[in-house]
Amino acid sequence: MRILFVCLGNICRSPTAEGVLRHKLGEAGLGEDVDVESAGTGGWHVGHPPDERAQSAAAARGIALESRAQRFEAFHFEDFDLIVAMDRQNLADMRAIAPHAAAEGKLRLLREFDPLAVEAGDLEVPDPYYGGSRGFEDVLDMVERACDGLIAEIRSAMTAGG
Ligand code: 4NP
Repeated sequence: MRILFVCLGNICRSPTAEGVLRHKLGEAGLGEDVDVESAGTGGWHVGHPPDERAQSAAAARGIALESRAQRFEAFHFEDFDLIVAMDRQNLADMRAIAPHAAAEGKLRLLREFDPLAVEAGDLEVPDPYYGGSRGFEDVLDMVERACDGLIAEIRSAMTAGG
């Protein structure tokens, strides 16, 4: 299975989700079963490592962020099984270049995998780029909860698929 996380710049939220999910998949013994990448709908940071603030917040939780930014392109709809957006603007920007309905069907919001966020109707991961370090901790908290739910879904999909 191949999963792509998508935000705007691909240096804060989606690299955090990529690093957190890969870390948790390893802990769950699923590291060989799922490939994880991230991308941004904007191209300003292509080739750059994650924002230093995102890296140090993740490192404090024992999680390495090792991606290099890439821009989201239409071909990603073919390369990935599940494409997970951080906010509704990311979703809208990807829908605008989706080649067909099956491609749109691969799109989700990250916090749809967090039952408490669904219950609260609070489904976006806010952009931390222009704020302080607290925003990066909040992103990590949201991403960790949603990735736990995502791993539970991956497990049940794998069980159902044999
Ligand atoms: P991200 O945050 O979408 O979580 O990576 C941003 C990083 C950079 C910019 C915007 C958002 N930017 O405009 O450069």
